[in-house]
Amino acid sequence: MYGWKALLRHHLSHGRSLRNLSDDKASRLVGIDRSKLHSPHVKKTKAGAAESMVAHLTQRIQYRNALTVADYMRECLTNPHHGYYMKKEVFGRTGDFTTAPEISQVFGESLGIWILKTFAAITSVHKPKGFRIVELGPGRGTLMRDISRIIKSVTPTVFRNLEIQFMEVSPKLKEVQKATMGAYAHESLGLHWFENLSQIPEPDGMATIYIAQEFFDALAVHQFQKTDKGWCERMIDVQVDPNGEFPFRYVLSRGATAASTVYKALLPAGVEEVEISPDAYGIAQTLGSFIGASDGLGACLVVDYGKLGPIEASLRAVKDHKIEPALLSPGEADLSVDVDFGLLSRGFREGGGKHVDVHGPISQRELLHSLGGVEKAYMLAESAESESQKAAVLKSYERLSSPDQMGDIYKAIAVTHSDVPTPVAF
Ligand SMILES: C[S@@+](CC[C@H](N)C(=O)[O-])C[C@H]1O[C@@H](n2cnc3c(N)ncnc32)[C@H](O)[C@@H]1O
Repeated sequence: MYGWKALLRHHLSHGRSLRNLSDDKASRLVGIDRSKLHSPHVKKTKAGAAESMVAHLTQRIQYRNALTVADYMRECLTNPHHGYYMKKEVFGRTGDFTTAPEISQVFGESLGIWILKTFAAITSVHKPKGFRIVELGPGRGTLMRDISRIIKSVTPTVFRNLEIQFMEVSPKLKEVQKATMGAYAHESLGLHWFENLSQIPEPDGMATIYIAQEFFDALAVHQFQKTDKGWCERMIDVQVDPNGEFPFRYVLSRGATAASTVYKALLPAGVEEVEISPDAYGIAQTLGSFIGASDGLGACLVVDYGKLGPIEASLRAVKDHKIEPALLSPGEADLSVDVDFGLLSRGFREGGGKHVDVHGPISQRELLHSLGGVEKAYMLAESAESESQKAAVLKSYERLSSPDQMGDIYKAIAVTHSDVPTPVAF
């Protein structure tokens, strides 16, 4: 079993997870069932948005087979009709969770300084024809707005020659990003949107920095378990218990699956359970290949929660700022996982070969402190209009950087071309 109670406790300090669901509910989450994968007994669906996703998934399972955890995540988050990110604004106090850029502008401004210093490191050895930032999964666009503000005020020349690209799958969030960027969208060389990496221009002489802040944790994972039949895969089937609280349940495949066979080389030795994201690994490989082929002009910064890996089983849902079991409300809650920085680093290295260096992970606290986060927070507090605002500014920075809040559990890695000096903070 997974030790979900421990997992829930562990995640209480996450920015995206504020309160715990009852341990009783959580303990029923992972019932590994070795009965038949496909069950003809389907819990009846009612009308309404959540049920539409339930109905869709139920049909998919009935007509094909149990879903992999990865398929379940993709459907729940990015299905064009019912996917969680596709239809509504999900961030902030009125949404389901809050991310670092939404907590304090100090976060975005600090990353803006990292970007400027990395552009400076690149131009110390190469002559780019312009500057570009590509952000993967920009959410509300708050991070890029704060980055744009700092770049424009510190080095207006870089800002005038800056192109911004967003990789975003959600049409709703694209609208929000456009509104958040406001005038910044037009003052630079321009702002462009892409839906996936295959649409993003390959290295073309521009100094290009890829930013992925809380992006990789939203990518689909497979969960595998070692049995006497070798690696089996955890799947998601329809509920058969008429009193079952959730519309779906976990089952274990009877033997190897397509994914356990195809991704065998990614499965670590010496563990009984593992959760891996081939999607995250594949994106890291592609970015690594871009940076490797960039003639010294490419770099990447990843910030997310996770560890060097391997990760056992971390999938959870977050709704109304509380952690929920992942199977409770498909399409109505955010789903996320801990990022395996070891696997991600491997992807970057394999993509870029000897031309890329991977730095870190370092903690978010170290990253922000090295970039002058404390000073920025105090300066911001100085300009606050009241004592309570001042206290709020300092408290927000503490939330981002304190080891018992987001400071340690969130980590950063940087990837640079091997021609370029080690980036600031690493
Ligand atoms: C957890 S949010 C993080 C938002 C933002 N980076 C922040 O920190 O506030 C994940 C973002 O990634 C986007 N996203 C999720 N899966 C994606 C995918 N497969 N391709 C592109 N964007 C994706 C979501 O729409 C959303 O903008």
